[in-house]
Amino acid sequence: MGTKMWAGRFTKETDERVNDFNSSISFDARMYKQDIEGSIAHATMLGECGIIDKGESAKIIEGLKGILADIESGELRFDPTAEDIHMFNEAELTARIGDAGKRLHTARSRNDQVALDIRMYLRDEIPVIKALTAELTETLMKLAEKNLTTVMPGYTHLQRAQPITLAHHLMAYVQMLLRDLGRLNDTYKRTNIMPLGSGALASTTYPINRQRVCELLGFDDITQNSLDGVSDRDFCIELASALSILMMHLSRFSEEIVLWCSWEFKFIELDDAYATGSSIMPQKKNPDVTELIRGKTGRVYGDLTTLLTMMKGLSLAYNKDMQEDKEAVFDAIDTTKLCLTTFIPMIDTMKVLPENMRAAAAKGFINATDCADYLVKKGLPFRDAYKITGTLVHTCIEKGLTLETLPIEDYKALCDTFGEDVYEAISLETCVMQRKAAGGPAPESVKAQIDHSRKALEALR
Ligand code: ARG
Repeated sequence: MGTKMWAGRFTKETDERVNDFNSSISFDARMYKQDIEGSIAHATMLGECGIIDKGESAKIIEGLKGILADIESGELRFDPTAEDIHMFNEAELTARIGDAGKRLHTARSRNDQVALDIRMYLRDEIPVIKALTAELTETLMKLAEKNLTTVMPGYTHLQRAQPITLAHHLMAYVQMLLRDLGRLNDTYKRTNIMPLGSGALASTTYPINRQRVCELLGFDDITQNSLDGVSDRDFCIELASALSILMMHLSRFSEEIVLWCSWEFKFIELDDAYATGSSIMPQKKNPDVTELIRGKTGRVYGDLTTLLTMMKGLSLAYNKDMQEDKEAVFDAIDTTKLCLTTFIPMIDTMKVLPENMRAAAAKGFINATDCADYLVKKGLPFRDAYKITGTLVHTCIEKGLTLETLPIEDYKALCDTFGEDVYEAISLETCVMQRKAAGGPAPESVKAQIDHSRKALEALR
């Protein structure tokens, strides 16, 4: 551990425990590239504005490029005793090019530097998460296309409710994922704003050109207030929030898959490559992937809570508490990426068991609403039709029959409006086919939904 950059003010060395406690290089080293690219833009601007000598600016840029290359080739290792990635890069630069290196930090503070780096890091990661989310969306749409007529029970309260199709069920998740993509796009917009030039908190007296740095680094705009520029971590919170919602969707779907591959449901079978065995029970094939996704969702919520709680009591501007933002937001990103990466091929390879879905749909009186609607279409008020059908269901339960197998005499005994055509009206196929309102489960409606969603996905990419 060399002498501290700020040693001049102090008469003692930092206690080793404080050093370790204070250091963030173990987790912020992953921003090395963004830190170097940000510094290159800063040095370019300093040279162009005549704040440092053009020749020195060029030397700094060359030096930084060398550091980047050496980190990437593995030749240069991070010093674990460095305070953070910013100090590490600067110290390395000065070690390599001498005095010119000491000029890099002119008109800059680590406060605006770290704000810049984290925005750049997130801006690089958001498209990766978006691409995975889009891939999952496509996987689901393809599976939906193959299952437009795969009848299954739709549930409320986990009780069989009305017949739908697997395509319709899958497309519900597609809608959620499309909104997730929209949220990621919104987050990106507010992340891609350039804070450098805010200085420690009150900008700088040097004649800097923030627009130039903005342009060099490909940001959409510059931050408008230097206090806010170094204090704002809303964009981290927004991303963690978008990821929490995305994870909530994956977790709900995971829960359904856990149910669907149980012996009680047996709607699907996971591919052997995406299931796990038990150490004691030889018959087991467990959906560990989905359970882990459900579990890891809590972790991402935890990251969001960490960020919200970390920020809630901070007076303006920078406080060291904010160093904690990185581990939380990085963990939210890593976890979500990991989950999506495993979930996509698991969905892609799972086997759908349509006969079991159909068999489950045939039980549980999920066509009772349609039976009531049959009477309504013949002129009865809905409430009367509802009551009659309830009684019919009761009769079926007593006799161990279904609405499809209940003899016509039993129907007529309750209401003489019933005719033989009731069987056609309550067949599962009819129930699904007739629900062709926009957004409904009829194959033609789901087909239209898929077309619409494909266009929406293209617009969100
Ligand atoms: N490692 C610090 C962080 O991640 C960098 C900013 C340090 N600024 C300061 N004033 N100590 O937040």
